[in-house]
Order: sequence, then C-alpha cells, then structure tokens
Amino acid sequence: MVTTKLDGKKLSNEIKEELKERVQRLQDKGITPCLAVVLVGDDPASQVYIRNKKRAAQKVGVKTLDNVLPASTSENEIIDLIYSLNNDPQVHGILVQLPLPQGINEDRVIQAILPSKDVDGFHPQNIGKLFMNKGELAPCTPNGIMHLLAKYNIQLDGKRVVIVGRSKIVGMPMIAMMLNANATVTVTHSHTHNLKEITREADVVIVAVGKAEFLTGDYFKPNAVVIDVGMNRNEAGKLVGDVEAASTADKVAFMTPVPGGVGPMTIAMLLKQTIEIAERSI
Ligand code: GUN
Repeated sequence: MVTTKLDGKKLSNEIKEELKERVQRLQDKGITPCLAVVLVGDDPASQVYIRNKKRAAQKVGVKTLDNVLPASTSENEIIDLIYSLNNDPQVHGILVQLPLPQGINEDRVIQAILPSKDVDGFHPQNIGKLFMNKGELAPCTPNGIMHLLAKYNIQLDGKRVVIVGRSKIVGMPMIAMMLNANATVTVTHSHTHNLKEITREADVVIVAVGKAEFLTGDYFKPNAVVIDVGMNRNEAGKLVGDVEAASTADKVAFMTPVPGGVGPMTIAMLLKQTIEIAERSI
C-alpha cells in the first residue's frame, strides 16, 4: 500500500501565511497580538520548544514577552506573575510551558490563568467547555491533529478512533474533540490489556505516549490512519516518534512523519489562538 504522508509542516506553513494577513489587519487597527511565555527552570526540552514557538511567532508578527524564571521560583511568585499578565491589556495569550519544576502545583498555576487568555486551552473551564462541545480555546496539539485530518479529507463521523495515552495535554482533550466529531472513541493507557487487539480495530489511531517506537506496524490494520505525536530520541540519538516508521510505512493509508507531522501543527494552533484572542479584543 502507498502510504500518504500527512504533511504537518506544509499545512502549518499555509496556516501561518493566512495568520500573517490577519496580523496585518490587526496592525492596521493598532493592535499587535502578544503572547506571554512563562518558562520556569532549565528543562532542555522545554527550552527547545519555547525557542521554536518564539521563532514561529516572530515570523507571523506575533510579539512574545519572555518570562524566564529560575527553578527556585516559588509557586506563589509564578502565580503573581500570571495575575500581572492577566491584567496587562497588551497581553492576549499566556503560555506556561510544562512541565513545571518539582514541588510546584501545576494545576494551581494553570488555574491562575484567565480562561480568556489561556492559549494552551488547559484551564479546567476551557477543558469543560470542550467536553460540552462549546470549546473556545482548545489544547494546541489535538487541535492541530483535527486540522490536519480535515485538510486530508479524513472523515471521522462514525469511525473507530483509538487514542493511545491519556495525558492532559493530548490524550484527554483528544477524546472530547473526537466525540465532538461523532467518532466512536476508545482510550487506552498504561493499564490497558491487549493493546494490539484494540488498535487493530481502529480506523484512526492517535499515539501520544512518549515512548520511542512503542507501536510497530502490526498494531494497525491496513487502511488505518496513524497519527504519531511522539518526539523521542532512540538509542542511536535519532529523533523518532512513538510509532516505528519502518514497519508501519507502506502498511497503512495515512501517517504523520516525525518530525514534520504533528509538531509544526501544535505551533500553528498556538499562534492562531493568540491571534483569535487579539481579534476578539477589537
Ligand atoms: N509541554 C509539552 N507540550 C506542551 C504544550 O503544548 N504546551 C505547554 N504549555 N507545555 C507543553
């Protein structure tokens, strides 16, 4: 079977071109969309993510405000910073890069963000709305996946979707989005028995477990759509997904590459939501 590559890099570039025009229209009205970034500590992966997000923001004309804090910063100091960003009229979106250092209560920090500035869509109010199919700001990775599937005309209504992983950032919000798209949804996780039997039934499999090449080609039925959210280094130091590409390619109908699949879509959605918040301020 010829596997079609779900090209997130290409689609994200198209989206970013449209976003540039929207930024220009905002600029004409005297508004510069602004994303405040909060990075606590020195997690190397977070530093790379933030660098990529800032670079992409600059390209489309979204201003970023850096708030880099040492790992020793207290929970209350982080929350005070968030309150000041909530009250700053020039800030449209607030992003707190996760994970936060040990000892910081992530839930308390996320709940301090004004829901209307929560570009990551992690605030319980935004998650709740998403599950009621009244979402406004949605988590960027699952949102990017929905855009990518739509671009390739992959229908979800009535389809069997299996989500592997139940993280707050990907798996859990993905459940809501797939239900809202009328898919029949199964969620699997580290306690699931007979994972392969379940994934082999799926029309669409979304894998977000953070384990290098965790699923091989025999986990999928022919014609499946495979979305790989993973970004891992294998033993040889090569960047690989949660799905083993070599045994899966040519076996399924559609597949995201790593890199160049889901990752760039996450960033495009972050910028899109920042601009949407700025547009609502007019
Ligand atoms: N850490 C891993 N992914 C994400 C994300 O999408 N947003 C934030 N804020 N932190 C993350």
